[in-house]
Amino acid sequence: MKVNGIHYRSIWYDHELSKVKIIDQRWLPHDFKIAELETLQSFATAIRDMWVRGAPLIGATAAYGIAVALRTDASNHSLKLAYDTLIETRPTAINLRWSLDRMQKELAEVPEGQRPVVALEAAHRIADEDVEINKNIGEFGLKIIKKLAESKKQGEPVRLLTHCNAGWPATVDWGTATSPMYHAHNENIPIHVWVDETRPRNQGGMTAWELQSHGISNTYITDNAGGHLMQKGLVDMVIVGTDRTTAQGDVCNKIGTYLKALAAYDNKVPFYVALPSPTIDWRINDGLKDIPIEERPEKEVTHILGRDAKKDIAEIQVTSEGVSGGNPAFDVTPNRLVTGLITERGISEASKIALAEMFPEKAGATNND
Ligand code: MRU
Repeated sequence: MKVNGIHYRSIWYDHELSKVKIIDQRWLPHDFKIAELETLQSFATAIRDMWVRGAPLIGATAAYGIAVALRTDASNHSLKLAYDTLIETRPTAINLRWSLDRMQKELAEVPEGQRPVVALEAAHRIADEDVEINKNIGEFGLKIIKKLAESKKQGEPVRLLTHCNAGWPATVDWGTATSPMYHAHNENIPIHVWVDETRPRNQGGMTAWELQSHGISNTYITDNAGGHLMQKGLVDMVIVGTDRTTAQGDVCNKIGTYLKALAAYDNKVPFYVALPSPTIDWRINDGLKDIPIEERPEKEVTHILGRDAKKDIAEIQVTSEGVSGGNPAFDVTPNRLVTGLITERGISEASKIALAEMFPEKAGATNND
């Protein structure tokens, strides 16, 4: 997607410099900065400390991390070290494991001398496939928006609500939940997006920024406003991303998603999840029992980053001294609250049978590659 008229992916390979570059998301939406990742440790830090974030982008970054690690040492020991280092960075998004397992499998039989080249090509493929998957999700999501638009008066927008940032910065490009929005906008279907701020890290600020950059009408709202808006009939559809969805369609996503799903259910608002297939964990069914929920530092809750009156980026404390913060980063929405899963192959019911029908080659898998 474009920033100041220039097309960017959130991660890319600079062929001239032979370097992996990322948009450093610690500063979004306040500042647009690019960073270079040159060592295995820098990749691990970038994922753990959320310079990059969002399940699909975490997966693509890990793949490039393996490729860069193998440049200096292409041995089995080095491959294992890179895998073990990267898998430890964040526990919830399954794309991390999916990507590492795939890299490991593709490289296992490759002679050491060829590994750096093969690994880089494999990482490029993962990144390119992500773009393609998200584009397809957008096309299927567009059908739902088009249907909703049919019941509107001429020029009246379809009103969507989204939580967190499942936008292009969270993927390699397009985003998952935002992709149907971009497709609708490109087809001149009027939409308006309610953007949850998504405390504590305010990923909604990124969503509002990217939608605004593309001329899509949106309103940034507090996390608690969604239920009220739904009761007032101001939301036609909820669409969110996911960090891990189980084989039976339980959806783990950014903390607060579950409350949106409950409010949507109570108000008969359709609740859709944009789901790329690498985000499905085929090994597990019960999301509440089997998905590890990341606990992040309490400082993310007690402090907040923004621009001060002088327009400088500043961190301020929002609690009194000594108050302790709790910071579970994700929650699980049971499949019964999900209207549909928008995948790259089509829209699936959130059930084991329907997902297995959509991805027959994956159903019953005991690993993620
Ligand atoms: O903690 P984050 O910012 O990595 O969490 C991101 C989310 O929860 C997204 O909704 C999810 O990864 C889907 S991104 C296409």
